[in-house]
Amino acid sequence: MCGIVGYIGPRQAYPVIIKGLKRLEYRGYDSSGVALIDNGKLNVYKKKGKVAELEEEVLDKNLNSHIGIGHTRWATHGEPSDRNAHPHVSNSGEFAMIHNGIIENYVPIKNDLLKKGYTFKSDTDTEVLLNFIEDIKKNNDCSLEAALRIALKRIVGAYCILLIDQNDPETIIAARKGSPLVIGIGKGEHFLASDASPIIEYTKEVVYVNDYEIAIVKADELVLKNLGNEKQTPFITKLDMELAAIEKGGYDHFMLKEIHEQPDTIFDCLRGRLLSHNSQINLSGVDNNIEIFKNAQRIVMVACGTSWHAGLVAEYLFEDLCRINVEVEYASEFRYRNPVINKGDVIIAISQSGETADTLVALENAKEQGAFIFGVVNAVGSSIARLSNAGAYTHSGPEIGVASTKAFTGQLAVLSMMALKIAYAKGTITELRYQELIKELEAIPEKVKEILVDTSNIQRIAEKYKDATDFLFLGRGYNFPVALEGALKLKEVSYIHAEGYPAAEMKHGPIALVDETLPVVFVATKDKYYEKIVSNVQEIKARKGKVIAVATVSDTVIPTMADDTMFVPDTDEVIAPLLSVVPLQLLSYYVGVAKGFDVDKPRNLAKSVTVE
Ligand code: G6P
Repeated sequence: MCGIVGYIGPRQAYPVIIKGLKRLEYRGYDSSGVALIDNGKLNVYKKKGKVAELEEEVLDKNLNSHIGIGHTRWATHGEPSDRNAHPHVSNSGEFAMIHNGIIENYVPIKNDLLKKGYTFKSDTDTEVLLNFIEDIKKNNDCSLEAALRIALKRIVGAYCILLIDQNDPETIIAARKGSPLVIGIGKGEHFLASDASPIIEYTKEVVYVNDYEIAIVKADELVLKNLGNEKQTPFITKLDMELAAIEKGGYDHFMLKEIHEQPDTIFDCLRGRLLSHNSQINLSGVDNNIEIFKNAQRIVMVACGTSWHAGLVAEYLFEDLCRINVEVEYASEFRYRNPVINKGDVIIAISQSGETADTLVALENAKEQGAFIFGVVNAVGSSIARLSNAGAYTHSGPEIGVASTKAFTGQLAVLSMMALKIAYAKGTITELRYQELIKELEAIPEKVKEILVDTSNIQRIAEKYKDATDFLFLGRGYNFPVALEGALKLKEVSYIHAEGYPAAEMKHGPIALVDETLPVVFVATKDKYYEKIVSNVQEIKARKGKVIAVATVSDTVIPTMADDTMFVPDTDEVIAPLLSVVPLQLLSYYVGVAKGFDVDKPRNLAKSVTVE
């Protein structure tokens, strides 16, 4: 949700910033802009649309600057337009600022500034905050840093901001609360960004700025302070990410690359943790807190979007294997509902980015009430990872495509290992079943590979149904959340209306939609509901619906009933979602591409939703 980049040092700032913005475009792409200081003069360029359009705009400008800030926007206040694009410039023309987040009390502040004669060129809360800072500076005759500190104490909301001053081309001032900020430390230069991807090719040493910290960044100096003006010691972390991981590597889209990476990412997730030779699962976050999990009265999964679907799969896993009562909560509802949190409750936070605002705040609230928070997170060092009492990374690598794919299967792999480990520790599964499931889980990467060997059948099915206006996705048991995820994926990248439903519940409403134009996708792998789902397929066929099935390779019945079938290898039903979701990811991808959409950056979406 908005990407920010800053640079100060001996290089030309503009190319570093533009390249960085392209890497961060998954966070927002409705407009972008840069501010540079050249020869004591502040120059701002901004443009509605993707970063490439900004680049075109500044093509013939002779840019020369060693300090700059850039922004790619996901609109909150004010429609996507040139004038609402960041950076914004203060009334005096001296200061420029970019912002990721939301200032909730911007209206009274704006009214106050209007009365004082301030004017606004945009509809954004950011321009209000910037002029508020300028006004405080003027009234108190203080430094920009001091004015910023005062302003931040008075505003309500979330922010990561970068601020530059035309009269001080040696300094970028940054601050964060609730929206991420990473500072890369080079030799005589510093890089600032929303995540490490714009920084990785220049340096691997980074500092993750904490909430309520201000960074005063010069080419050869980084000072961190809290809002009380006390210096903080920057904690330098070494990135273990490689540049290749954030490039397309020969694929047409990141989404396709990430779908195809899954055999490796799931393998990486299991590596060193799932040890079939001695039937062991090593997850230090669980090991170190095993008594908490064994005694848990209730597990609450808190997440948004695709991660929420992983939580739903985990509900089946933990109830089934561990006999623990599980609830799965949308973070946005949970945080405002005044939920009852009891001693003995464990919260499992699931998040790819580790920065989703609703999830983060829901966890902060739960932690305040004494809950134990376990993070299942992909982005190393992210806010949710740091807030958690313990956790397990999914190790899926950077996910750039806005529609989540490999992060989902990474989450399922971690949650499956957790459930197995806890069930074994509690004695709620037999030794034999435990060993069986470890073996099945270990075989998953190879089985995902089998699905990906030849995707031409799925591509053909996508072409056949791409003009449908609606889709229904149905599944039972472990495959019900997969049906929801299939529908979400299709909506996200093809803009086709799609609904996911429990296959049996379909009779209580959605069946009214069925006619010869409605494709109904059944996630119908061989499991204990198989016979029942066969009946559900018949019910759709009887009403002339078009049936697309995800079926087990050995199945000889469903393929004869369905109009089209996508096959997956056989596995145990408790880990079946790790396979059955893959054809649905591909189906969405190919439908989106066939319709000519930018599947990596679907309209209106952002990868990391850092506003509530
Ligand atoms: C956005 C993304 C989804 C993601 C959701 C939750 O909506 O587009 O792909 O599932 O946020 O994000 P998180 O990073 O917390 O998993």
